[in-house]
Amino acid sequence: MTDPTPAVRERVLSLPAAELPAYVYDLTALRAHACAVRDALPDRVELYYAAKANPEPEILAALAPYVDGYEVSSGGELAHVAEAVPGRPLAFGGPGKTPDEVTAALERGVERFHVESGHELRVLAELARRHAPGRRVGVLVRVNLPVADGSLAGSSLAMGGRPTPFGMDPERAREVVHALTDGTYPHLELRGVHAHLASGLEAPELLTVAGTVVSWATGLDVPIAEVNVGGGMSVDYADPERRFDWAAYGDGLARLTEAHPGLTLRIEPGRALTVYCGWYATEVLDVKGSHGEEFGVVRGGTHHLRTPATKGHDQPCSVLPVDAWPHPWPRPAAGSGRITLAGQLCTPKDVLSRHVPAPGLRAGDRVAFALAGAYAWNISHHDFLMHPRPGFHFLDDDGDGGDGDGDGDSHGSGGDRG
Ligand SMILES: Cc1ncc(COP(=O)(O)O)c(C=O)c1O
Repeated sequence: MTDPTPAVRERVLSLPAAELPAYVYDLTALRAHACAVRDALPDRVELYYAAKANPEPEILAALAPYVDGYEVSSGGELAHVAEAVPGRPLAFGGPGKTPDEVTAALERGVERFHVESGHELRVLAELARRHAPGRRVGVLVRVNLPVADGSLAGSSLAMGGRPTPFGMDPERAREVVHALTDGTYPHLELRGVHAHLASGLEAPELLTVAGTVVSWATGLDVPIAEVNVGGGMSVDYADPERRFDWAAYGDGLARLTEAHPGLTLRIEPGRALTVYCGWYATEVLDVKGSHGEEFGVVRGGTHHLRTPATKGHDQPCSVLPVDAWPHPWPRPAAGSGRITLAGQLCTPKDVLSRHVPAPGLRAGDRVAFALAGAYAWNISHHDFLMHPRPGFHFLDDDGDGGDGDGDGDSHGSGGDRG
């Protein structure tokens, strides 16, 4: 939804201006969403959360009852997630794993390694021999498969089906599968196949991808116990009410698992799990005209919420009017037209949302940017221009949010994090 939940709205309006901008996360809404996603999936489909979407410890913990594990893609994520949700299964993926990262993962007993190349396999094998003697390390071979023409066409971020540094071409992946099963690497155990071919796909396209990956994996001449078909569920920033069809996706995955009774399927969504629970809240500092257009300049900008700059979209938002104006100087206000909301950076790229229908927008009004719960703060270039960092607020009906006073706000006074 674009409108903030009542709890978020109340928090945004009650924060002093000096504590804006702020990220406000509705953990109650996140739990409800994650629960619905879990319920839509068949039992034999494991749900891992791709921590790269939003690794805030409170988010990782709120998801814990609904996910089977977490996908991490660096040594940093690995250590962070292991500390935030101790004891939960981890899958370590991503290209360019360093020997130190692999060693740290082995020492932590990571459940699954997603092997991205033949070289990575050899590094892992030697380090497993040294650092994990006496156990066999579970490996999934990441394959970059071609898929039926058009299936990845809707993707904003295709990572497979074309030349990329991710995973291996099918022939190479097949060789790695054989090396894992012919006794060459006694410390490694082939568990299955991994593929994350694209992000931003609708359920029918993702089911085509899943079907292609499963038939390739089960067509290998060695038994495959697990197939991880990745994440990539669509999020529509232009129409936030339109949600990924988890029910259709779950039905399709159920058909796949029925066709392959011995197989465990796994998915690892990021964006579509957490994006809806986060808002970036700020206030309008100035309103001005420029060459026939109106601009509202807000506290903060794309150095905190980089998503609209990277994806080239307008971030959905709601204006929360504030009638009080405590200053002795006149209050700037917009006319009756549309207004472009820009941040405080000295670059024309610092635009959060264009042509927002906000007639009469005034300095001092608040704006809550929605869909800021994934690939938002953690992908932003925080230090550019040295503006203060936002506060972080975790609203939670179900828990104490970590600050011990029971109001579910672990950073209520604008805690500086990042
Ligand atoms: C290997 C892997 N798995 C899962 C994801 C999560 O994708 P999304 O956030 O689109 O669901 C990504 C994102 O880049 C990824 O690289």
